[in-house]
Amino acid sequence: MIKFAHRGASGYAPENTLGSIKKAVMMGAKAFEIDVQLTRDNEVVVYHDYSLGRVFAGEGNIKDNYLKELRFLPIKNNFSEEFSSEVFPVLKEVLEIIPKESILNIELKAIDSEKREIEDYILKNIESFPKENILFSSFNHEILKRISEKDKELKIGLLFEELPDNLEEYINESKIKPYSINPSAKFLTEEKVKDIKKLGYKTFVYTVNDVESFEKLKKYEVDGIFTDYLDRF
Ligand code: G3P
Ligand code: MG
Repeated sequence: MIKFAHRGASGYAPENTLGSIKKAVMMGAKAFEIDVQLTRDNEVVVYHDYSLGRVFAGEGNIKDNYLKELRFLPIKNNFSEEFSSEVFPVLKEVLEIIPKESILNIELKAIDSEKREIEDYILKNIESFPKENILFSSFNHEILKRISEKDKELKIGLLFEELPDNLEEYINESKIKPYSINPSAKFLTEEKVKDIKKLGYKTFVYTVNDVESFEKLKKYEVDGIFTDYLDRF
């Protein structure tokens, strides 16, 4: 089973930072998940929330800030001194420290009102990483459709909170050919995993941080999980 370092080793370092990625590499991670979005000046940054304040200090939305402004923000570090000088990370520098043979899940974050073609900026920024090792995912399936139209070879993971009742019909209507289905562990049943397998897709489940859930999902024979604590299982 693949264990994705969710936002890096986010149980041990501030999530989605270079420190978090380096920590995951040191812990032996073979697969990584990061969240990306666009700044006001169309730079691709690695950050989960749409707004500032939780991981980096500040106010307002990422999309309304220039990269130069974000780079000055101090980290709100709840971990060790080791991470006190982390700066707001851009995708390109994160890609430099992830070993090229790793599996990399890039989750595209974009609010529904986003008018920019975020996929174009993302594609321009991933050239240094082997494309066949990247899985693009998003809760925004419209963006996934657009990015897969730009390049049919890209691997796509459809993110869901709760899976639709008729997954096959949903996928057919979406016009996306996914590589994986990425559901939340919260609502996932063994039946649903069987359905996904029957349709021929991988199942990658988020976010799994306790042993009991891990053991259950292992029994369901899911293909991968996202975890903040790589060393727990
Ligand atoms: O991709 C798995 C997981 O990261 C999705 O949810 O909110 O943690 O980005 P979130
Ligand atoms: Mg994510």
